[in-house]
Formats: sequence, structure tokens, C-alpha cells
Amino acid sequence: MSTEPVEPADPPAVEPPPAPSRRTFIATTTAVGGAVVAGGLAAGTPAVGAGPAAAGGPPSGRLALTVNGERHTVTVDSRTSLLDLLREHLGLTGSKKGCDAGACGACTVLVDGLRVTSCLTLAIRLEGAEVTTIEGLAPGEDDRLHPLQSAFLQQDALQCGFCTPGQIMSGIGCIQEGHTGSAEEIREWMSGNICRCGCYVKIVKAVDQAAHGK
Ligand code: FES
Ligand code: FES
Repeated sequence: MSTEPVEPADPPAVEPPPAPSRRTFIATTTAVGGAVVAGGLAAGTPAVGAGPAAAGGPPSGRLALTVNGERHTVTVDSRTSLLDLLREHLGLTGSKKGCDAGACGACTVLVDGLRVTSCLTLAIRLEGAEVTTIEGLAPGEDDRLHPLQSAFLQQDALQCGFCTPGQIMSGIGCIQEGHTGSAEEIREWMSGNICRCGCYVKIVKAVDQAAHGK
């Protein structure tokens, strides 16, 4: 007895789903996005800005500090940098904003006698601090410059001048710290201050001159 081969049956035809319209696409993605956000919150992920300050903007605080011998009481957003406090709130624009990321030294000031990059220093943490900026070096009305300012002029240690306030404030810190034993030592301890004009040799000479009265 012979048997005929059985042809496999064709699979049933499946209709492709209709292409979503713009309206249905937006409705779907909105629903999915909402579910993801809701899931995150349900899992305990705090929302950015949650808390008492969310309704009324970022938290702020009052602080009192001394800048160039003058007492100031200010209310600042807790995210405000010392550099922005000086430039935007107190109108002291001598400290420059180069990178705003701690990499160039243009914003260097002294806080309680120590040099800091003011762009990376939170103002709100400076309650009671003594801050000295480039404006505070020659505050008298007799136009007498700080010895390091004079040395920068005599050594012609600048071109565009953008980095100069930071260089001078850092140089004062360098001298006060006693890191002026040699040109190499000065160069090392001033290495956080970038000069795009390349005045490094003369900057080192100016710090050396102010430190040793040469
Ligand atoms: S602006 Fe502060 S280090 Fe560059
Ligand atoms: S003098 Fe121009 S960046 Fe230093």
C-alpha cells in the first residue's frame, strides 16, 4: 500500500498591527514615562528638589564675613560660590572667573590667610571668615601698591592681565607659606595658576623679587 506525502498546511495569515498615529504614539509614551517616574518614586528614589525648599526655590542662608576689612552680612543661595558672592553680590570683580572648575587659579583669593580657588568654595561655609581679594591689597588712597603688585609691574609679568589678580593673590600665599627658596620651588607652588599668555618666567621673577626684596 502506498501513501501520499502530506503537504504541510500554510500558517494562518497574521495581519500586521496598524502603524501608530502621532496621537497614539504620544499617548503611549506619556503613559509609559509616567509609569517609570511613578515606579522610581515608589521604590524610594527621592525627587530632585524634594523637601521644604522645593516649593520656594533653593535653600538659602545668612552669613556674616569680612571682605577686605569690611564686615558684610548677606543672604545667599546655599549653592553660591565665594567667587559669585564677591563678583555678583559685593561687586568685587577683580577676582576672575576663568574655568569655574578649579583648574586655572584666576579666582584665587585668601581666606583666613590661606589661598583658595573661590569658584570651588561655598560661600555659605564662610561664616566669620576673613577674605582678602586683589581689591584689598592696596586699599589706601595714596595709590601705594602691595610689593608684589609693584614687582609684577617692574618685571612686566603680564600681558592681557586676566590671570594677574589670581597670580598675585597666589603669589602672596606662596610667599607667606615660605615656598620661595628657589625659582623651581616658586614655579612648583604657583603651578595651580595658569597664564595663557605664557608669562611664567616673569611671574616667578616677580614673586622672587617681592619675597627677597631683590
Ligand atoms: S575660575 Fe576658579 S580655578 Fe578657574
Ligand atoms: S597675562 Fe594673559 S593670561 Fe596671564
